[in-house]
Amino acid sequence: MSQSMLEDIASPQIYTHPAELHERYARLRQSAPVSWCEHPAYRPFWALVGHKDISEVSKQNDLFLNAPRLTLVPKAIEDYLASTGRGRDGSVRTIIDMDEPDHRDYRKVTQSWFLGQGVAQFESRVQAMAKRSVSRMAELGSDCDFAVDIANWFPLYVIMGILGLPEEDAPFILRCTQAMLAASDPELQRDQQAFGTAEFEQLFAYLGTIVEKRRREPTDDLGSVIANGLVKGQAMGMLETLSYLMLTSTAGHETTSSAISGGLLALIENPAADQATRQNPSLWETGADEIVRWVSPVRHFMRTAARDCHVGGQAIKAGDSLALFYLSANRDETVFENPFEFNPARTPNRHLGFGLGGHFCLGRLLALTEIRTLMREVQSRVASIELAGDPQWTQSNFVGAIKRMPVHYKMA
Ligand code: HEM
Repeated sequence: MSQSMLEDIASPQIYTHPAELHERYARLRQSAPVSWCEHPAYRPFWALVGHKDISEVSKQNDLFLNAPRLTLVPKAIEDYLASTGRGRDGSVRTIIDMDEPDHRDYRKVTQSWFLGQGVAQFESRVQAMAKRSVSRMAELGSDCDFAVDIANWFPLYVIMGILGLPEEDAPFILRCTQAMLAASDPELQRDQQAFGTAEFEQLFAYLGTIVEKRRREPTDDLGSVIANGLVKGQAMGMLETLSYLMLTSTAGHETTSSAISGGLLALIENPAADQATRQNPSLWETGADEIVRWVSPVRHFMRTAARDCHVGGQAIKAGDSLALFYLSANRDETVFENPFEFNPARTPNRHLGFGLGGHFCLGRLLALTEIRTLMREVQSRVASIELAGDPQWTQSNFVGAIKRMPVHYKMA
């Protein structure tokens, strides 16, 4: 019984049926929070669904490594990528792929930008882009697909501005990101066999031209910080530089878009929360984090044990991999009061939507700023909003939430 539930929570298909998914997660949290999963499509792995175990693993970066298995990729695809030399170990090296000491050195290249003046300097641009997004809703009249027409674009324009990429390239970046991150959704993936490799190569070639430009003429954007980044006094290698840009230009928007669509759906489904935040917009100070807990746009990341050890009473062997299901941890009834209630005033909110430990999301401040700015802007200019059709969820056990959300609304 529990083996079939484990198979279910790893299968991309169930992510299009959130209620069923959460029912499986809840039963596993009760009966088998750390269990060995032998799934027909994936190499075996430990599935972790509880907040405590996931937190403990995430904080021990020397024992639980990010390399070599970062996400659940079907065996067939792993074999195909390895046979063409395009696996993660050869063709990409982002800071999420790295372990210590490299990870710390490379993370430092952008850390002060993300946690210091960088995001703060950008706040007025975020505000302007949020205004533009809601103006787009007004232009579209009283109906739109909020996921496709609004949420997909706002974080993308923000991150492109931050990286210094021309706005007209936004459709290209969006296509590449969706093909790479939501590779298991047949609609977003044009070539199932290739698992986004064509888009990956196109994106790398494109980012290569940006690196050259920023090295020739540095500016004050994040693209320049990365292109000219030094590690131990030396310029970063081309693989690491392109991977860095690739990570920020993809992870930085698909996640935030998912949070924004999922957040609006939460408001539509919870009129009391909508009312409360409309009356008191300062609730978004905590509400943005509640959206990330509620939606958990990154459903899992993986770690590999460096040594034999125990997690949640289970004996883990060196080399075993562990999938950390953040979406389940964020509904853990032993940590959150009424975890199935969307509560913008929730404090404390120790959700794991941004991970934990050494790899804790660098874009957290930026993402929270974007979410609360857009929510406030929508609520101040849209008098009422309702669903005009059923929302559709991305078929992915990794990143992504709602891919379609038809809405009907009245501008104020
Ligand atoms: C709601 C939006 C977002 C969510 C849910 C999210 C989630 C995550 C998660 C779960 C991790 C891995 C943490 C871990 O392993 O402990 C991560 C890492 C990361 N995120 Fe985000 N993220 C979001 C937005 C952003 C944005 C806007 C950016 C920047 C442009 C960004 C950049 C990064 C980077 C660079 C890392 C790697 C950090 C490292 O390995 O040291 N993220 N994010």
